[in-house]
Amino acid sequence: MLVRQAVRAWAVELGFSLVEQTKIVTAASELARNTVDYGGGGTVRLEMLEERGRGGLRLTFEDKGPGIENLELALKDGYTSGGGLGLGLGGARRLSSEFEIASRPGEGTRVSITRWK
Ligand SMILES: Nc1ncnc2c1ncn2[C@@H]1O[C@H](COP(=O)(O)OP(=O)(O)O)[C@@H](O)[C@H]1O
Ligand SMILES: [Mg+2]
Repeated sequence: MLVRQAVRAWAVELGFSLVEQTKIVTAASELARNTVDYGGGGTVRLEMLEERGRGGLRLTFEDKGPGIENLELALKDGYTSGGGLGLGLGGARRLSSEFEIASRPGEGTRVSITRWK
């Protein structure tokens, strides 16, 4: 998946350790998969951040799919409406320094994660 390669390259560029690279790549991969599987495809924006000399990587996934009716439920480990493991959203949240999700039924979903070095 192209997203994995791009995120890995940016994480390397920012000087992330191998473990940090793997965390953000894994989170990105889960969110990209959700965008495709449930959102009908969408976009991802990569942003390189710097705050007080600290580097960060922010990824924003957006789709115009059916949206998520119950966000709390969707974030619960083990919950899936498909045939997944239900660990994608919760896992991505745990692997990130910051996690934001916004979704409106019928309009789509936006998930943003940030990992600071
Ligand atoms: N982009 C999305 N659009 C609509 N529903 C979503 C989206 N991402 C996640 N969901 C919903 O949240 C549930 C949990 O997602 P996740 O934790 O990644 O588990 P899984 O992908 O294994 O189902 C999904 O089963 C789906 O119902
Ligand atoms: Mg998933």
